[in-house]
Amino acid sequence: MFRIQPFVASALLLSTCVAAYDNLLGFNGAPEVEARTLDEIYEAAVAEGGVVTCWHGGDEAMQQDGLKTAFEARFPKMTLNLTVDLSKYQDGDIDRQLVRATDDLYVDSIILQTLHDYPRWDQEGGLLHYQPLDFYKLYPEFRDIRGAWHATAVYPWTFTWNTDRVADGPMEFTDFLKPEFKDKLVLTYPTDDDASLYAFDLILQEFGIEWFDALLAQNPLWVRGTQTAATLLFSPNSTAAATFTSIVGLSPPAPLNISIPTKGHFNTWPQRAAILKDTPHPEGAKLLHNFILSKEYQRNTGVWSVRRDVPAPTGFPELIDIPSTDPTEFQRFLADRPRVERLRFFFESKLGTPQGPSSVNDSI
Ligand SMILES: *[C@@H]1O[C@H](CO)[C@@H](O)[C@H](O)[C@H]1NC(C)=O
Ligand SMILES: *[C@@H]1O[C@H](CO)[C@@H](O)[C@H](O)[C@H]1NC(C)=O
Ligand SMILES: *[C@@H]1O[C@H](CO)[C@@H](O)[C@H](O)[C@H]1NC(C)=O
Repeated sequence: MFRIQPFVASALLLSTCVAAYDNLLGFNGAPEVEARTLDEIYEAAVAEGGVVTCWHGGDEAMQQDGLKTAFEARFPKMTLNLTVDLSKYQDGDIDRQLVRATDDLYVDSIILQTLHDYPRWDQEGGLLHYQPLDFYKLYPEFRDIRGAWHATAVYPWTFTWNTDRVADGPMEFTDFLKPEFKDKLVLTYPTDDDASLYAFDLILQEFGIEWFDALLAQNPLWVRGTQTAATLLFSPNSTAAATFTSIVGLSPPAPLNISIPTKGHFNTWPQRAAILKDTPHPEGAKLLHNFILSKEYQRNTGVWSVRRDVPAPTGFPELIDIPSTDPTEFQRFLADRPRVERLRFFFESKLGTPQGPSSVNDSI
């Protein structure tokens, strides 16, 4: 039977008013609950075509190479067709995919930083309600009860420094104001990345505008892309020594080292994943999501797991035992778009607009 797609309906609404697109009162939202083994899902995914297209948020194309390698090593008959780009650009392209309806939809899985998009996409009827294996092993805050989305990993914005360039790494936010960090900080524009904006919001609410004025006096290098900050900490051509706007995992390779502060708050958030409802490769997408949530994968992400039964990486407390971060707060921050915009324009007035091409294309 021909069924009008909710997104087509929304487009038609302006002219013809044929149907509502909000799914709230459509009910029947119970999820499909996975009962097969990984290998059984693998078999179904191979039969379906052996490919899954995933858009993953990030700021360098190589950032999820580890996921692709691990997935294809575990499932050699599968191809993970992966695109990494800024979540804030990918989400608009997802909207455009959805509005053009089923025939044109080619993305199966979306794993993005824009957490606030997911409730909206779900309300619009765009997301598959699906509970992968071990769904209830995830912390409740890291999953939608009807399986519209779940988290994949908790990304921490630790303090990160190059031990060859600075003797004592920063332990608290106030340490970034010490004379040894003058001309040696590399930071991601808060006007370019909402995760950076949130980090600065947390810091300034705690330490005041005076902290920010003193930070500016340190003459930090502002860059697009969190990975770019880490790259410059490594690069022999750079003098950058420390940052608090990057993710290098909890056990980074030498000469990098990290710390987490005890005063104020640093940003951690659960990256969010969903399967599009009318995806061309539902089995491939299910395989990918089950693989990412499997204990074997969760143990090796180098960051905190979204599963309750996978302990924190060696040497670190459990996330819920760290008072200086709350991984559930970022979604609240993101969902308040007027507040986000006011903050962004405040920082734009101090720093100007982000300069240079997107970090995905800038060859740094
Ligand atoms: C791989 O992904 C790209 C970009 O998302 C898409 O254009 C292409 O159709 C996908 N390929 C396959 C085989 O699905
Ligand atoms: C350092 O700079 C030189 C000269 O511009 C360049 O050839 C080289 O690729 C750079 N190295 C890195 C790691 O960026
Ligand atoms: C890394 O920093 C921690 C403090 O966060 C410190 O205890 C440890 O000794 C440092 N490791 C290296 C190799 O410098």
